Amino acid sequence: MTEAVSRGNTHRTKIVLSFFIFVGFVFFQPILSAWATEPSSQELYQKYCASCHGRKGEGSTALSAGMDPPPRKFTDPSGLVELTRDRMIQSIRNGRPGTAMSGWDRILTEAQIMGVVDYIQDRLMPSVRSANASPGRRLFAQHCSVCHGDSGETAVWAQSGLNPSPRNFTNDKARQELSLERMLFSVRFGRPETAMPAWSGRLTDTEIQEVVHYIRNAFLFPGGEKLHVKEADTVGNGNVLAEEENEGSLNLEAMREPMPQNLTGDPEWGMRFYLANCSTCHGKNGDGRGPRSEFIEPKPRNFRHPSSQHKYNRPRLFEAIAKGEVRSEMPAWEKVLSPQEIANVGEYVFLTFIKPGHDQKPEKPGTDDKDLKRGE
Ligand code: HEC
Ligand code: HEC
Ligand code: HEC
Repeated sequence: MTEAVSRGNTHRTKIVLSFFIFVGFVFFQPILSAWATEPSSQELYQKYCASCHGRKGEGSTALSAGMDPPPRKFTDPSGLVELTRDRMIQSIRNGRPGTAMSGWDRILTEAQIMGVVDYIQDRLMPSVRSANASPGRRLFAQHCSVCHGDSGETAVWAQSGLNPSPRNFTNDKARQELSLERMLFSVRFGRPETAMPAWSGRLTDTEIQEVVHYIRNAFLFPGGEKLHVKEADTVGNGNVLAEEENEGSLNLEAMREPMPQNLTGDPEWGMRFYLANCSTCHGKNGDGRGPRSEFIEPKPRNFRHPSSQHKYNRPRLFEAIAKGEVRSEMPAWEKVLSPQEIANVGEYVFLTFIKPGHDQKPEKPGTDDKDLKRGE
C-alpha cells in the first residue's frame, strides 16, 4: 500500500520532471543548438582564412609566401580605406578572380560571411574602427551598409536582390519623404513586409538616434540640414517671436483645464520618461539646453521661457507632444506613446516647468519633487 503510494508519487514526480525537461528543451533547444553547432565568427576566420591572412590578420603565413598578389594584410593601414564593408562582403562571397582568394559562398552562409567581416573589422582592423568613426558611422557600417550601401546609395547586390530594395538615402525622394521622426520610427520598428528589420532591442535608443543622425548628415543632407529646413520660426533658447507673444497669456481658467480624453497624467511616470527621453534635447531643467540641443536647429523648446508659459496648458501640451513639430527634430510621440503616457509626460512638463507662479530660474534637479507631490 505505502509502496504503491510512493510509487505513484515517484511516477508523478517523473511526469512533472519530464514536463519541465520537455519545456526546457523546447525553449532552449534553439539557443543550445546554436551554441553547440554554430561556430563563432572568430572560429570561422581561424579555420578558413587564417592560413593565408594570418591569425591576427598580419598576412604573412607559410602558405602565403609565394602568392601574387599576396593575401590582404588586414592590419596594414594603407589601403584600408578601400576595404569597405560592402566590398569585403562581395570579395568573400565571390572571391577575387585571378588570385588565390576564392569565393566562399558555397561554404559560408550569408550570415557567416557578415559575421566574419565584423570580426575582421572589429578585431583585426582596429585602425578603421577607432580612428575615423563616429558612433553613428560605425553603427551604420556594422548594421546597415550591407543593405543600404557604404555611401547610402543601396548596396549593389540588394538593388535586384531585395524587393522592395533598400532605401537610397541620397536622392530628392528620400529627402522629401524621410522626416527625422519617420526614420526613427522605421528604424525602431522596421518596415513590415520588407527586408528592413526592426532595430529596437538590438540597438539601444541612443544608438538608433546616432545612426539616424549619421544617415541624415552623411547622405540625406550632406550640405547641412538647415538649408532644407524652413527658416526657424520658433522659440529657441530665449528668442521670442512676436507671434508667440501676441497669443497673450493663458488665463488661470485655461491653466486648470484637464488633459483631453478624460486622462489624468501620472507625473512620476512622466518624470522618468522625460529624463530618459526628452531631457537630452529639452534639458533636465526644461530650459531647452540638453546635450543634444547644440546640434539641433531649430532649438528645442525652452519650457521655462515666459512665452512657453503663456502658450501651454495641459491640452496644448498634450497636442504638442503627440504631434511633434514636423519641421524640427521634435518627434511625434503619439507614434510610440499611448495617450495615457503622453498625458503622463505632459503632466510632468506642465507641473514642473510651465505652471504659473513657478520659479522661472532653473532649479537644481531634485527640487522638482515638491511639484510632483504637490500635484493638482
Ligand atoms: C588560399 C589563401 C586565401 C584564403 C584561404 C583566404 N584568402 Fe582572402 N585573400 C587572399 C588573397 C591572395 C587576397 C588578395 C586578392 C587581391 O589582391 O585581389 C585576398 C583578399 C581578401 C580580401 C580583400 C578583398 C578585396 O576586395 O581587396 C578579403 C576581405 C579577404 N581576402 C577575406 C578572406 C576571408 C574572410 C577568408 C576566409 C573565409 C579568406 N579571405 C580566405 C587569399 C586567401
Ligand atoms: C537586410 C537589409 C536591410 C538592413 C540590414 C537595413 N535595412 Fe533599412 N531598409 C531596407 C529596405 C528593404 C528598406 C525599404 C523598405 C520600404 O520600402 O518600405 C529600408 C528602408 C529604410 C529606411 C526608410 C524607411 C522608410 O520609412 O521609408 C530607413 C531610415 C532605414 N532603412 C534605415 C536603416 C538603418 C539605420 C539600418 C541599420 C541599423 C538599416 N536600415 C538596415 C533594408 C535593410
Ligand atoms: C531630438 C530632440 C528632441 C527630443 C528628444 C524631444 N524634443 Fe520636444 N522639441 C524639440 C525641438 C527641436 C522643438 C522645437 C520645435 C519648434 O520650436 O518648432 C521641440 C518642441 C517641443 C514642444 C513644443 C511643440 C510646439 O508645438 O510648440 C513640446 C511640448 C515638446 N517639445 C515636448 C517634448 C517632450 C515631452 C519630449 C519627450 C517625450 C520631447 N519634446 C522630446 C526637440 C526634441
